[in-house]
Amino acid sequence: MPDRRDFIKKSAMSTTILGSSLILEACANPGSKEQALSTPEVSKPVVIATWNNIKANDAAWSVLENNGAALDAVEAGVKIPEGDPEDRSVGYGGRPDRDGKVTLDACIMNPEGDCGSVVFLEHIKHPISVARKVMEDTPHVMLAGEGALKFALESGFTKENLLTEASEKAWQEWLKTADYKPVINIENHDTIGMLALDDAGDIAGACTTSGAAYKMRGRVGDSPIIGAGLYVDNEVGGAAATGLGEKVIKVVGSYLVVELMRQGNAPADACRMAVERIKNKNPDYRDFQIGFVALNKKGEYGGFSLHKGFGYALHNSLEKKYFEAASLL
Ligand code: GLY
Repeated sequence: MPDRRDFIKKSAMSTTILGSSLILEACANPGSKEQALSTPEVSKPVVIATWNNIKANDAAWSVLENNGAALDAVEAGVKIPEGDPEDRSVGYGGRPDRDGKVTLDACIMNPEGDCGSVVFLEHIKHPISVARKVMEDTPHVMLAGEGALKFALESGFTKENLLTEASEKAWQEWLKTADYKPVINIENHDTIGMLALDDAGDIAGACTTSGAAYKMRGRVGDSPIIGAGLYVDNEVGGAAATGLGEKVIKVVGSYLVVELMRQGNAPADACRMAVERIKNKNPDYRDFQIGFVALNKKGEYGGFSLHKGFGYALHNSLEKKYFEAASLL
């Protein structure tokens, strides 16, 4: 699997179409007007995902192009990295906590505004599907830890070992210094957040992660927190976050992006404003990364990050590609 940083470099170099040029121009000049032009052409259905999750988008697109529902699309989409042992920050193969245990967080929202979430879930390869079951089969929004696992097993999910040999080896190496210092854009914070607008005009979203690598046992990030890692309002649009979850939770980041879109801001501008809010509230902003993606009811989309290096994958009937997002720094 290509290294994420190589991929980002190559993608940036090969970007040629109008929309991407505008986005890259905005990257070089974050204050420029071009930043608002996040969506040169709008088309429905559409799916957008954080990072280079092209394969996840392919799975979502195969649902959407057959007139499937946005909810089914985002679940199918994020299950791809969840099941990929090479993806070291989501699901199976995810980096463990400092005790060597893989603990997963995920949430999902449907166009009706219903939501389901699991936090600190162990041994289940597809936490997003458990989150969907919480939403659809229980009177609750969130299940945690042992209770979430019990519910998953009762619902027919299989208990598995999620710690791959490679992840265990990397953890053993980390234990030699046990220095907890999340590194910007290195694969310890690249949660997948996905938003889809289906042919019927409905929006759903999903977000799933193994969280910060070598986190304290029991730590839960932004990804399963409705409003922080993900938020969908079918009247307006949806947003999802990646990066250091503690910072996203403090501003209820995805909800903030959706509310900024409600006020009339384009998706990329709403993402930029939320990133600015985080920067202004955190003197240590140089030490962590935050990225948002957003999609509105018209099918306009965009993303923005604090530091360079973040991007998002887009698939609609016009194009299927990776965009480097503009950044503040
Ligand atoms: N954004 C993922 C996490 O902080 O857990």
